[in-house]
Amino acid sequence: MHIFRTASEIRAWSRSCRLNGQRVGLVPTMGALHQGHASLLTQARGECEMVALSIFVNPTQFGPSEDFAKYPRTWEADLEMAAAAGVSAVFAPTPDFYPSGYRTVVTVPGWKSVLEGEIRPDHFDGVTSVVAKLFLSVECDVAVFGQKDAQQALLIRRMVRDLDFGLRLVVAPTVREHDGLALSSRNRYLSSVDRQRALVLSRALAASVAKWRAGEADAQTILAAGRQVLVSDPPDSIDYFTLLDPDSLAILDDAPRLVKPAILVAAARYGSTRLLDNAVLGDVWAQGHLP
Ligand code: PAF
Repeated sequence: MHIFRTASEIRAWSRSCRLNGQRVGLVPTMGALHQGHASLLTQARGECEMVALSIFVNPTQFGPSEDFAKYPRTWEADLEMAAAAGVSAVFAPTPDFYPSGYRTVVTVPGWKSVLEGEIRPDHFDGVTSVVAKLFLSVECDVAVFGQKDAQQALLIRRMVRDLDFGLRLVVAPTVREHDGLALSSRNRYLSSVDRQRALVLSRALAASVAKWRAGEADAQTILAAGRQVLVSDPPDSIDYFTLLDPDSLAILDDAPRLVKPAILVAAARYGSTRLLDNAVLGDVWAQGHLP
């Protein structure tokens, strides 16, 4: 397994793979890998002969009140997981990935301030900018992201379309613990009591999905089924439990009739830990689905 520190090194590697007729799949991460990341790597391995994993704790996507320095860094364990998953190259750029004097921002206006973006201003500018840099560095054929961060995946899908990155985006399903908790590097911060309480999130989403599967199309009724479960064991606070149009990022909560795939997104807090989860109503990630 190669370990590259600069964009030019990984680009040379990727170009030589592709010249040899091997497709390159990229899984961008900030490290602290868990089974959710392992499933993204497996997905990439299924799509491409060569898999690149990027590990970069990106400072520009952290807000002033979010502790960049405290983000978990588990380099040795990450490398072990990468090797076990058949990764061919790890791209772990040094901080000068952002050269001195760096100014450029890749932004998706409007969308970057919806829901997560409203709560975490500038977060998505940091994400789309670094992901654009990663795409330009690795020059991959396929990039794999998790549905767990659905809004992130939607913004990146828009960016890939708009800027014609010439790669295929794959969004892989969320991996869950046996009891339904979505895997996340933040779960480690939950007390055992809060971890148990947090199961209500996936149960609430499942209740809404069940309503929709039973043929209900009214957004308020679908949401009410989930919200009823959510308030039965309420999180310390709920940031949102809402329906999004994946193509416009419009909030659909008042739609009398859902006529196309939608995504149900939830964010709640337990103490200082914020958890995100979501569920799709229909094939949100279908290839070519974007208008
Ligand atoms: O999802 C993440 O881990 C990060 O937001 C990403 C996509 C690697 C960009 O830093």
